[in-house]
Amino acid sequence: MTIGIVIVAAGRGERAGSPQEGPKQYRRIGGEAVIHHALTQFLTWPRSGPIVVVIHPDDEALLSDAVRGLAGAQSMITTFGGETRQKSVFAGLRALSQTQATHVMIHDAARPFVDHALLNRIAQAFDDGEEAILPAMAVTDTLKRAGADGIVHETVPRAGLYAAQTPQSFSLPAIRAAHEKAASLRRDDFTDDASIAEWAGLTVRLVEGAADNVKLTIKRDLAMADEKLSSAQMLPDVRTGNGYDVHQLVPGDGVTLCGVFMPHDQKLSGHSDADVALHALTDALLATCGAGDIGDHFPPSDMQWKGAASRIFLAHAAEIVRQHGGIITNADISLVAEAPKIAPHREAMRRNLSEILGISLDRCSVKATTNEKIGFIGRKEGIAAIATATVVYGFLKP
Ligand code: CTP
Ligand code: MG
Repeated sequence: MTIGIVIVAAGRGERAGSPQEGPKQYRRIGGEAVIHHALTQFLTWPRSGPIVVVIHPDDEALLSDAVRGLAGAQSMITTFGGETRQKSVFAGLRALSQTQATHVMIHDAARPFVDHALLNRIAQAFDDGEEAILPAMAVTDTLKRAGADGIVHETVPRAGLYAAQTPQSFSLPAIRAAHEKAASLRRDDFTDDASIAEWAGLTVRLVEGAADNVKLTIKRDLAMADEKLSSAQMLPDVRTGNGYDVHQLVPGDGVTLCGVFMPHDQKLSGHSDADVALHALTDALLATCGAGDIGDHFPPSDMQWKGAASRIFLAHAAEIVRQHGGIITNADISLVAEAPKIAPHREAMRRNLSEILGISLDRCSVKATTNEKIGFIGRKEGIAAIATATVVYGFLKP
C-alpha cells in the first residue's frame, strides 16, 4: 500500500475577501502560509507517499514562496486545477495516477490544522480494508430548516448527522473511476469527494475527525487561526529578581520582620523600621523591571522615611511592577537570624506578604535559618534576608 496525497489549492478564496491580499491558502498565519502548515503535516507523516499539490496557473510563485525551506518540498508534484474543486481534485488524481500510489488522501490546503493522529486513524481504516473513508465530526448544534423569509419551518433531528472534513481518503483506482464517471456524465455539482464516492456506489466509512481541523473560509477564520498560532509560539515573559539586605542588631526591645513585631532583647538599627525581609523583597521586585533599588525610591537622606513602616516600600514596588504590566506570581524570602525564633511567626509573615502584594497565600513563602553561630549573624550582630520575586510580563516573541 502506498498512500499518495493530493492537496487542492487552486481556489480563489472569494469568501475570505480582499483580492489584493491574494488567495487565502497563501496568506500567512503564525508567520507561514496557510498551505505551509498542512504540507508540513503531510511531509512529516511517516506513511505519506507521493504528494501532489493542485494550484491555479497564476500561483506558481506564491507556492514556491510558501514552501521555501520546507524539507521534502522539492519532491512534490505540482499540477494545475480547474474552476471547481471537483475539477481540481480530478486533475490531482490524474497526476497521482502516474506514481506508485495505491491509495489517496485528498486534503484542502485551507485546513492547516490537520494532525498526525487523524492521519493515523484514516491509515488504520485503510489497513482494515476500507475503500472510502470520511473524517467527520458529529453535529452538536441544534439544526433548523428555514425559508428564504427567515422563518423557521422545522427543527432537523441531529442524530446521525455529521460535518465532513478532509482528508477524505480512498482506494486510488476507485475514486479515480468515480471522478471519471462524474466528469463523463457532466455531473460537476459535488461539493466533496465522499459525495462522488457515495454516488458511484462506494461504501464510505466514517472515522472521527479532529475538532481543530477546521477549514479557513472567511476572513475572520484566518485572523483567528493566526492568533491561535501566534500565541502558541510566544514565550511567557517570566522574570525573576533577587534582593539582599542586612541590618545591624543593637540593644532594644524587639525586631520587625515581614511586618511582624517580635519581642526580643535586641532591635534592628536602621533608617526606617529596618525590616530587612521587606527591604530585600522590595529590591527583588524592582529588579524584575529594571526599576533600580530601594535607595533610589526611598533615599535614606529623605527624612520623611525615618521610622517608616517598610510595607509602604514593598507596596510601592508592587505598584511599579504593575505599572510595567507585571503580574507578581511568587515572592520568596529567606531570613538568616540567630534569634529570635522565626518559625512561630512564619504564617503571620506570609499573610502580610499576601496582603501587601495582593496575591494569594500560596504564592508567598518565608523561610528562616540560623547561621550556625558563625560570623556576624552567628554572633547576633545582625540579621540578613535574601528574597526572590517572580513576575510575568505577558508574552515575548522569540
Ligand atoms: N479549490 C481548488 N480549486 C477550486 C476551488 C477550490 O483547488 N476551483 C480548493 C481550495 O483552494 C481549498 C479547497 O478546495 O483549499 C476548499 O475550497 P474552498 O474553501 O471553497 O476554497 P475557495 O474555493 O478558494 O474559496 P471560496 O469558495 O470562498 O472562493
Ligand atoms: Mg470554493
